[in-house]
Amino acid sequence: MSFDLVFFGGTGDLTWRKLMPSLFQAWRHGKLPRDGRILGVARDDLDDARYRQWLQDRLQEADSAKRPTPDEFRQFAEQVHYLRMDLSVAADYARLTQWLGQRQADTTVMYLATSPHLFPVICQQLGDCGLNHDKVRVVLEKPLGHDLASAQEINRAVRAVFSEQQALRIDHYLGKPSVQNLMALRFGNVLFEPLWRRESIANIQITLAESMGVGTRGDFYDRTGALRDMIQNHALQLLTMMAMEPPSSADADAIRDEKLKVLRSLKPFDAHTVTRDVVRGQYRSGMVHGQTVPGYLEEAKVPADSHTETFVALRCEVQNWRWAGVPFYLRTGKRMAHRHAEIVVNFRATPHPIFPGSQAPNKLVIKLQPEDGLELHLLAAKGTVSSALSGSGTEALSPVSLDLDFDKAFPTDRVGAYERMLLDALAGRLNLFVRSDEQEQAWRWVEPILEAWRHDHQSLRPYTAGTWGPPAASALVARDGFNWAEES
Ligand code: BG6
Repeated sequence: MSFDLVFFGGTGDLTWRKLMPSLFQAWRHGKLPRDGRILGVARDDLDDARYRQWLQDRLQEADSAKRPTPDEFRQFAEQVHYLRMDLSVAADYARLTQWLGQRQADTTVMYLATSPHLFPVICQQLGDCGLNHDKVRVVLEKPLGHDLASAQEINRAVRAVFSEQQALRIDHYLGKPSVQNLMALRFGNVLFEPLWRRESIANIQITLAESMGVGTRGDFYDRTGALRDMIQNHALQLLTMMAMEPPSSADADAIRDEKLKVLRSLKPFDAHTVTRDVVRGQYRSGMVHGQTVPGYLEEAKVPADSHTETFVALRCEVQNWRWAGVPFYLRTGKRMAHRHAEIVVNFRATPHPIFPGSQAPNKLVIKLQPEDGLELHLLAAKGTVSSALSGSGTEALSPVSLDLDFDKAFPTDRVGAYERMLLDALAGRLNLFVRSDEQEQAWRWVEPILEAWRHDHQSLRPYTAGTWGPPAASALVARDGFNWAEES
């Protein structure tokens, strides 16, 4: 297969931090078709040679295992090119058309790694040049808009030029191997399905914690905040994968139809429930990994009076027969104690305890990162079975866990999220991309929260960097008689 892959925003942060390093890994693993051209497009005054040099310097900043050797880079770079473009100028698209027309690639992927306000104009210009024929796909990076209206506007502009099958909306969490495993766990095994419902599950907790601050992205982040940056997309996508019904097949639309049903079943918020069930916070200076770090308001490019949230915890419910009454808690934050993403399924206690001592209910922990694995927490008889059975002794049972480490189980088959998504985009595999109706429904659901916060700055709670967020987040869960996993 031959391909042309065009990165709009070719010198931007995302391109050098994620896209190019992932492409290089795909190349190194022999998965990137050699008959392909990678074209960086930006306003910078560069040519192929200078762009390659710039790229080489950036790739040297990667972890040593991921850095290309000079010889590897030389070979990879033969596929890399550069075109200077002003994205609002029609003549520049004509030059792009000419460049692409030097040969007929089997697939052309336009990757829009620019600010989303440019998506409509880029799509329109591509359409005007005929660069929307059926061999072309367009990849749209998040954030897709900043609310429902802006997301709909972008989607309308994209749909005017590309079909839904051609428009791939990225949520890179869906490409993580651990998230792929979630589908396998639920729909490749019979074990959990009978338990995967309100009768057996007490609550589900989804935590996406980062120890990093906002780094150099202060201006972007301050316009965005944790709700838009992580909850509207990554956390809700994980929730849909946990709560969805088994799809009729692994076909992209069969899966996306089921995810959409979950989003539509989420209990809507109103001003009262936002105050009660959503906690937002902003980090203050503190210690992270033994180092003192500045508070959010001291970060570069962040206004000193900002009310942007860097932490959100919320309680929500999926209103259908399977999940009625089961709380789903979602939580995300910057500058938390450590980088840690996991989903915890807390099962109900046994209906009639016959052993003395504490009866910690079963728990399934789906570890997403940094480790990628599963832990099943069970109770087992401590000491002799007979003393446990007779109920003698104060703590007859002890918690034990079954641990599965996917990095060890499949040491050579792990593919990074962006690497997988890029290869899927080139191959036209749509399963891991978000459909416009899913994405708009997710915006519809978070809108009342955004609306309530617009009028209320009081509810923003400070938390110390290096902790698990404001105490109100613990109170949110404690109110239902539960704890966050790290507090149990
Ligand atoms: C991005 C957010 O979508 O996800 C960032 O914009 C966040 O703010 C990042 O840091 C987290 O991704 P990962 O893969 O490092 O967990």
